[in-house]
Amino acid sequence: MPGHPQSLSDLLAQHKPGHGLPQAFYTSAEVFEHDMETIFYREWLFATPAAALEKNGSFRRMKIGAFDVIILRDNKGEIRAFHNSCRHRGSVICTAAQGKVAKLTCPYHQWTYGLDGQLVWARDMGEEFDPSQHSLKTVHCRTVAGLVYICLADQAPDFDTFAGTVAPYLGVHDLSDAKIAFQSTIVENGNWKLVWENNRECYHCAGNHPDLCRTYPEDPSITGVSPDGTFPEKVESHFNRLEGAGAPSRFRMGEDGQFRVARMPLLDGAESYTVSGKIAVQKRLGRVPFLDAGTLLMFHYPTTWNHFLTDHSITFRVTPISPMETEVQTTWLVHKDAVEGVDYDLKNLTTVWEHTNDEDRRVVEHNQQGICSPAYQPGPYSPKHEDGVIQFVNWYLDRMRSRQPGLSMAAE
Ligand code: FES
Ligand SMILES: [Fe+2]
Repeated sequence: MPGHPQSLSDLLAQHKPGHGLPQAFYTSAEVFEHDMETIFYREWLFATPAAALEKNGSFRRMKIGAFDVIILRDNKGEIRAFHNSCRHRGSVICTAAQGKVAKLTCPYHQWTYGLDGQLVWARDMGEEFDPSQHSLKTVHCRTVAGLVYICLADQAPDFDTFAGTVAPYLGVHDLSDAKIAFQSTIVENGNWKLVWENNRECYHCAGNHPDLCRTYPEDPSITGVSPDGTFPEKVESHFNRLEGAGAPSRFRMGEDGQFRVARMPLLDGAESYTVSGKIAVQKRLGRVPFLDAGTLLMFHYPTTWNHFLTDHSITFRVTPISPMETEVQTTWLVHKDAVEGVDYDLKNLTTVWEHTNDEDRRVVEHNQQGICSPAYQPGPYSPKHEDGVIQFVNWYLDRMRSRQPGLSMAAE
């Protein structure tokens, strides 16, 4: 509460199961710092589709809290990640958000690094100087089926379980054949957990997403987490049809609830996220066996949810900026040989999710504004429609509880 010191453990203890979080979780600078240190600096984070790093030397810069990271494709075509901080006096090396380079040259005194991070040139550093001791610091980096993840921790947690589970589902989408058709980056004036809570339910869909609701079912058995593992007959037969045709589809969730993958049906007759419901890209990305195969839903906390469709794929990346600002980057991937204006119309491809993102931004911002009121009191989630939100909040609280020694926070 404002003006009173509270420990994080007190705040965690205040949470009532099945309810929203106490205000400070969405507003406090100190909780935000705990979120970064406890979650974002320790977990695997989705960075970019590999397709964004088209050629050897292509790089993307990514900021996460205090960290600044370069993700690049080296001369052998491997994707690597480095801290964007020069080993001389610490300047950032890449100043642009993205680009293509032969080497990484620091703008300050031109120390120059190879794409493998080795220092290859530094002027007048004296006889004793050993360049091999001044390579760029590496960041853990893994790619699964064309999706690049990084981890900022010294010791990265297990990645193989997630990668091994989702790789077969992603395989039929051939993301290695993809190119970026469009990328949008928006900032939502809301806490990152509100962005996630909103994503994990479709209780709000009918009232807010007229375009999305043409094709995406708000049925909680499709959008939720199915904690008891059962699905309606219609969804079961959809799984069987797709799996029988070689497209893994059945619902799988990581043991600790960090990720979920499932290929879910769209509304009857719908093929893709377009206003008409028909596919947006004639030269399809992937080998999904039917046009009406639905959407492969994949989330991985705390940074990404995705829709892999019959004709194209859409990745989403969530990056907290401050307690009440979150960046959401959306990337539309199409087959690399698909030609804009011939195989697809860009507006037709992007309209539904451009609108949906903006509608979600609006509801998240309204949510944040109301939570900032001293009158805010966490209310109950709908057990029917918001079990996905409960699942997310529980995952978050478990991580916070298991990793906090109960640090006390200063008065706000
Ligand atoms: S800080 Fe990079 S070369 Fe000096
Ligand atoms: Fe939404």
